[in-house]
Amino acid sequence: MADIGGLRDWRYSIDQQGIAWAVFDREGESQNSLGRRALEELATIVERTEQGARDKSIRGLVFISGKEKGFIVGADVREFDQAQTEQQVAEAVTLFNGYLDRIERLPIPVVCCIHGFCLGGGLELALACHWRIATRDDATRLGFPEVRLGIFPGFNGTARSIRQAGALAAMPLMLTGSMIRATAARAMGLVDELAPSPLNLPWMARKAIERKRKSKVAPLWKDVLRMAPVRGLLAKKFRAETAKKVREEHYPSPYRLIELFETHAGNLDGMKLAETRAFAPLMVGETSKNLRRVFKLSEMMKAQAPKSLAFKPLRVHVIGAGVMGADIAGWCVACGMEVSLQDVNAEQIGKGIAAQKKTINRKFKTKAQRAAAMARLIADPKGQNIGRADVVIEAIVEKLEVKQNLFKSIEGKLKPGAILATNTSSIMIEDIAAPLADPGRLIGIHFFNPVAQMPLVEVIKGRESREEEVAKGCIFVTAIDKFPLIVKSSPGFVVNRVLGPYMMQAMQRLERGETKEKIDEAARTFGMPMGPIELADTVGLDVCAHVGKIMNLGPGGPTKLDEMVAAGKLGKKSGEGFYVWKDGKPEKAEPQTPYDRFELERLGRELVDPLIREAEKVRDEKVVESADLVDAGVIFGTGFAPFRGGPLHFAATEQKSNVEVLRRTAAE
Ligand code: NAI
Repeated sequence: MADIGGLRDWRYSIDQQGIAWAVFDREGESQNSLGRRALEELATIVERTEQGARDKSIRGLVFISGKEKGFIVGADVREFDQAQTEQQVAEAVTLFNGYLDRIERLPIPVVCCIHGFCLGGGLELALACHWRIATRDDATRLGFPEVRLGIFPGFNGTARSIRQAGALAAMPLMLTGSMIRATAARAMGLVDELAPSPLNLPWMARKAIERKRKSKVAPLWKDVLRMAPVRGLLAKKFRAETAKKVREEHYPSPYRLIELFETHAGNLDGMKLAETRAFAPLMVGETSKNLRRVFKLSEMMKAQAPKSLAFKPLRVHVIGAGVMGADIAGWCVACGMEVSLQDVNAEQIGKGIAAQKKTINRKFKTKAQRAAAMARLIADPKGQNIGRADVVIEAIVEKLEVKQNLFKSIEGKLKPGAILATNTSSIMIEDIAAPLADPGRLIGIHFFNPVAQMPLVEVIKGRESREEEVAKGCIFVTAIDKFPLIVKSSPGFVVNRVLGPYMMQAMQRLERGETKEKIDEAARTFGMPMGPIELADTVGLDVCAHVGKIMNLGPGGPTKLDEMVAAGKLGKKSGEGFYVWKDGKPEKAEPQTPYDRFELERLGRELVDPLIREAEKVRDEKVVESADLVDAGVIFGTGFAPFRGGPLHFAATEQKSNVEVLRRTAAE
């Protein structure tokens, strides 16, 4: 064995059979991402292999991961801001693309072994190799998540994925940022061979080198799809599909990718160069910067779960099998936990458990996995499992005394160290905890409806809640794949507090004669995922009226909302609210004359203003630890336009640009 010394992120050795092993094992990190140092070291590996291929001391090269967790998760997002100008981006990308070209041109077989995540730049490296072997393992996922960061593959992944898989498969993969399993990647042509487990990878790689395996490019019929005029038709189809999901002015990257395909896919070498030219402006653009900010905020939220605390939640007991309790139980089961579900109404438990089949079926593919998951969810009308649970969550009626009585009755039954939590949306944690022998133990773990879809969970710290319990709450929330946001116990916490004034403002506009359709369209023009009137109908007008009362919003006395609730118009769930709902969709009237774009933009900005002002109060009152966390909570809890980087970040950016305009005007 001969090694290259001095590498920190890679290990490189040549074995007795003349096979070079490039093992990626990034120093000080649990996962492999392509940072600057790893790329520089890759250059050394390429050079050394070229030399070995020339003097015949090396007859094959294998790329493989040294991490248990996966191959490569992509380029290192933390380092993206190092290149500030388009030119700097283009130079950095061109340099790396040069290494990939050299890997592809090596005269010896180059094999890539994939287990776990193989995303973005990782997949682009794999595509430059001659043969790709991936494990069938459930953890193996391939994809191009770049659009989620406001860019598209920039290491020549656009041209190489089209070459391997054809445009019809490769373009949607890049346009949606979705991840696929190894079997699907094999069917597409992105992977050449499947391995039963990671243990088989080295000998399969050896065999591939002995047999001088070389991947086949997409068959001719797929290749025809990138020829004009079919390309134009395909581009039209991609554009229409993309427009259903995102607007070009908010998220330009998929549209630039379609243009790149339409103009250059006829010549894949030309496409590589054009890719870099189109990539650089996206990378330094505002949208990508803000989406990278959102990515970093999500990492920041996960980091709130301390690694130092030895708390590993495996068993959960949920009390209350209504709308929220049953879905919380179902989600925990989907995340691998054992869950017992309690309710005073035994029939409700049965209904609640049956309703979880949808979540379980979505999460698990095989019959056996689904059956195993359903077996982890048990009915427990008497609460016999409370003493075994690591987490006990209450989701019963929103009445202080009933909640207090329940907690008093179960406090003594808990296992030492177990979390005791309430899902209350409006009662102060300290009030519920007041009659307990140990009030410091109680925290809030506040989920949002629908539980399976909402990524945020507020972890509420009551006046007396102990730090350790809050930290354990964050560990639990992270363990069930949600983002925790630590919030001080105060009316509306964060998400309902900022949404309240926003929705009230929309309703006042409605009462003043603006149409609901225009209000909703204006909010979407700003970048909200759904307009506030449609949102009110979706959440339920009864829930909105309740939140409005807690937060003292509105004029006092009965409102239009109360009248509608009294008339049974509860929104989507009753079939009518502000809108009439058919097949789960609101019926919207077309405007008599098309909306004026500037007017929509102005109205959209005015509509979100109360939300921004409330977020500023949340920051000033230190309800959440930092301004960044307020932004994170509002983005993940309300869907606030991610490409704007959060309400506080948006307001600061807007103010800066207003000052800039004023300064320029004054100078003129
Ligand atoms: P729900 O009315 O659908 O369900 C409550 C369930 O608790 C019922 O099945 C009832 O039989 C059961 N229950 C009542 N008293 C009980 C007791 N002493 N012991 C055991 N079970 C008992 O209510 P929902 O909407 O699920 O709300 C539950 C909690 O979650 C409330 O605190 C609410 O504020 C909170 N919440 C509700 C949200 C929503 O969108 N519905 C969102 C976030 C929090």
